[in-house]
Amino acid sequence: MCGIVAYIGDLDPKEVLIEGLKRLEYRGYDSAGVAVHDGDSVAVYKMAGRIADLERRLSQVKLGGSLGIGHTRWATHGEPNDINAHPHPDYHNKVFVVHNGIIENYLAIKKELEKRGVRFRSETDTEVISNLIALNYTGDLTEAVIRAAELMEGTFGIAVIHKDEPKKLVLARRGSPLIVGIKDGCFFGTSDVAAILPHTRDVIYLEDNDIATLTPDGYKIISRGAKTVTRLLQRIEWSLEDAQLNGYPHYMLKEIYEQPEAIFNAMRGRIDIMEGVPKLGGIVPVWEELKNCKSIILLGCGTSFYAALAGKYIFESLTNLDVDAELASEFRYRRMSFLPNTFVVALSQSGETADTLAAMREAKRKGARLLGIVNVVASSIAREAGAGIYNHAGPEIGVASTKIYTSQLVILTLLALLLGRHQTLSLTDGVRILRELETLPSKAREVLKKADLIETIAQRYHRYNNWLFLGRKYNYPTALEGALKLKEVSYIHAEGYAAGEMKHGPIALINPEMPTVAIITRDEIYEKMINNIQEVKSRRGPVIAVCNEGDEKVKEMVDEVIEVPETLPFLSPILNVIPLQLLAYHCARFLGRDIDKPRNLAKSVTVE
Ligand code: M6R
Repeated sequence: MCGIVAYIGDLDPKEVLIEGLKRLEYRGYDSAGVAVHDGDSVAVYKMAGRIADLERRLSQVKLGGSLGIGHTRWATHGEPNDINAHPHPDYHNKVFVVHNGIIENYLAIKKELEKRGVRFRSETDTEVISNLIALNYTGDLTEAVIRAAELMEGTFGIAVIHKDEPKKLVLARRGSPLIVGIKDGCFFGTSDVAAILPHTRDVIYLEDNDIATLTPDGYKIISRGAKTVTRLLQRIEWSLEDAQLNGYPHYMLKEIYEQPEAIFNAMRGRIDIMEGVPKLGGIVPVWEELKNCKSIILLGCGTSFYAALAGKYIFESLTNLDVDAELASEFRYRRMSFLPNTFVVALSQSGETADTLAAMREAKRKGARLLGIVNVVASSIAREAGAGIYNHAGPEIGVASTKIYTSQLVILTLLALLLGRHQTLSLTDGVRILRELETLPSKAREVLKKADLIETIAQRYHRYNNWLFLGRKYNYPTALEGALKLKEVSYIHAEGYAAGEMKHGPIALINPEMPTVAIITRDEIYEKMINNIQEVKSRRGPVIAVCNEGDEKVKEMVDEVIEVPETLPFLSPILNVIPLQLLAYHCARFLGRDIDKPRNLAKSVTVE
């Protein structure tokens, strides 16, 4: 997904920009570029491909000055090539823009600009922005950005420089994250704090419609109606090391292994064992309404949606609430009608997923109350929700979401338990569930000890081209998530199915060439899953089972067994998903895939 880094100050802008762009690589990109102002003119270098290629090209040129902008692009308008890469100059090479987001009325603006003699070089919507700013320029870049922003519809985070103003960097945001970094007369602009962390931890998160002007002497933020505004200066607590590999070959593996800690951090300081209730500070502002709510809608995309679906089963186990899980990308276009006092709970690792944000806004417009379960602090979704619970799981860099899924399930359990205790759950129930939650970090560690076995299974099976993942009830979402993990990192075709649906179609696929991963836990639908495994075996389909420790019955039936410790049935997805993540990881490794940056995928999906 696109990333911005911009800089003004005494350091070498070329160095700052390249280093920043490298730290944005994990988000996924197809091209990259920089524009550096040397005091007289602006030099642009941009190309499709890797940052390393851009760096090589830049090492051959001398660029001075104190101002520059850089970008990693993930194509939305126009194919990934050198011309469509950012930065984009205007027709007269005066204004240079890098842009995240989508300008929805760009075609209309483009037509208008063409009538006025502007000729376009790229297929991007961004080139419209630089030309619009240039056309509105009368000697002050900030003024020109304000006027252009009024004419643009859609989402943008932009960093802009002008050839005639070598000491000014302008940032503007609407619906796309943008952050100002500050350090001793140096100022940074970025869409992702990881890009500037080697330089500063003091940051300001711009809000929608903010326009920031950065000069060597300071910064000024104005908002709608050109009013100067003050925004909170915040200190980033997580370290660069947190975002680095620490000896692991891939971020995905590192993050899988961080799960015991992430599970622990999700409940750290949030458990009152004596009262049998969780303590969730982030929902205090809405608690009076929340404790009386009758209906909850859990919302997310991708893995966060599967967490929402698992959350539905958790809520059903612990509360009397009417609970649904919805795909944000579908929900945003539905005709919504809410029971009075409905809460929409948005789940998101990045806090920037465009569909989730849009669905929340629609729900709010129609009267729902919002909550967020978000990992990235102060992200757009966290701010839109206004109240909620942070994962505190540290940065997740691998494109495949792993530790956030298990962390989300822990937080959903805490929320459901809190509400359940205000309904019918007894003190004994509350204490029992919290005590079980507290065992999960060490049980997750036990599961991770099966890594060698899982690697061996992956070695045996990674050449199979089609896989089926089966689960029921609590572990139906686990099956969906297991299939998603395998397909996104290994590019193997995999389908997740509710095992009860087998006879309604997918059983036709079963043959010796199609492995089935069956998730079977000792719970009330255990025997039903046994039947489903029989159905696969009697059609000579190989079965890899994730089952509870000591389950001899399953062991006798299947080809491969991965045993996990027993827990409460509605908590079992937290442990059962870990072997599936490892299986996907090792299959991808055996197939030589780009595990942390799978093709066509981005870490943070900030466009629809
Ligand atoms: O940042 P979010 O949790 O909102 O992201 C949602 C999805 O884009 C994300 O989970 C995606 O499906 C991952 N690639 C899954 O591994």
